Amino acid sequence: MIRINENYLKLKASYLFADISRRVNAFQQANPDKKVIRLGIGDVTEPLSQAVVSAFHQGVEEMAGAGTFRGYGPEQGYDFLRELIAKEDFQSRGADISADEIFVSDGAKCDTGNIQELFAGDIRIAIPDPVYPVYVDTNVMAGRTGVNVDGRYEGLVYLDGTRDNGFIPELPGEPVDLIYLCYPNNPTGATITKAQLKKWVDYARENKALILFDAAYEAFIRDPELPKSIYEIEGAREVAIEFRSLSKTAGFTGTRLAFTVVPKACMAYDAQGNEHSLHAMWNRRHTTKFNGVSYPVQKAAAAVYSPEGKAQATALVDNYLNNAAIIRKEMTALGFDCVGGENSPYVWIDGKMGSWDFFDMLLSKAAVVCTPGAGFGTCGEGYIRISAFNSLANVQEAMERLRSVLK
Ligand code: MLT
Repeated sequence: MIRINENYLKLKASYLFADISRRVNAFQQANPDKKVIRLGIGDVTEPLSQAVVSAFHQGVEEMAGAGTFRGYGPEQGYDFLRELIAKEDFQSRGADISADEIFVSDGAKCDTGNIQELFAGDIRIAIPDPVYPVYVDTNVMAGRTGVNVDGRYEGLVYLDGTRDNGFIPELPGEPVDLIYLCYPNNPTGATITKAQLKKWVDYARENKALILFDAAYEAFIRDPELPKSIYEIEGAREVAIEFRSLSKTAGFTGTRLAFTVVPKACMAYDAQGNEHSLHAMWNRRHTTKFNGVSYPVQKAAAAVYSPEGKAQATALVDNYLNNAAIIRKEMTALGFDCVGGENSPYVWIDGKMGSWDFFDMLLSKAAVVCTPGAGFGTCGEGYIRISAFNSLANVQEAMERLRSVLK
């Protein structure tokens, strides 16, 4: 008899964004004349930049020529891309990261979900609340939690993010081995300072813990004082793995390219306390389970780092930041308390009612989709997240509809 992994039975029936999508589709079917404006899932809407498109075409052309065709590439990514990433994203900011510490992949969602395979089944895991659901669900699937009781899994150490702490949780009150952090934060849009991040790095060093730092939204940071990478903090090379993505940085949600940085100094321990290189372990996993991102996509990604590509990517992100500023301003003017929307594409709004009630009201009365904060954890109850990923015209129209519904 084929048996299931019963840990799956502990999960909520569907993934948050699949659930939302189902509700939106039902609404659209019942109201075919209504134009739904989607400010829910953080999915980009603007086309790829010119620099990216021409490199992408060139990559396809090369695949069409007998002399330039390529089969399997290196699983970790082509050197031309890894070298650019190391130089432009890290070394240029004083972060000591080399090309062979970069693992190119097809998504930060997959990487943040897969990385937990490297760790023991009984480690203690600190999870911020609210949080990107992938970090929790993948550990549930792997059997590292008990059942869900009142919205929280037994066995996880939850780190509350609240208005009072600015959605930067305090250090855990009990020992933990693995810590998930995401800044600029999804879902709250909060950002972390170097001094605040240093406390986490120091904690990890003192406790032989590891930080999984999700920096998928670093391109939205415009404040020069804020860190874009955890490796800007002294000592982080030994205790942190960082996840990056071109999804939001350069409009790659449909094109797929991300990367994970695993420094060679990053160690974890076996039951006897012997050190093991996480770089070697991730390399082993990556080469066993992944066959690399396609050559044209890596060519396209490399173009993001060219002078024109950089300017065009900045312009794309600027559009979304402008939308975020509009959303924040409008919602504040309507009397709502907002976090984020500055150095971040997400605005986190105290809806002053149940999250799903607010979601249903916006959908039914304004045909605007947001994300209910409760979907990100118990501390998200009462909040909604509005994403800036849409055209300026749609954001303006959505805000006009919200004004008439919420006034
Ligand atoms: C979100 O809306 O939270 C993101 O789109 C999720 C993701 O990037 O997978």
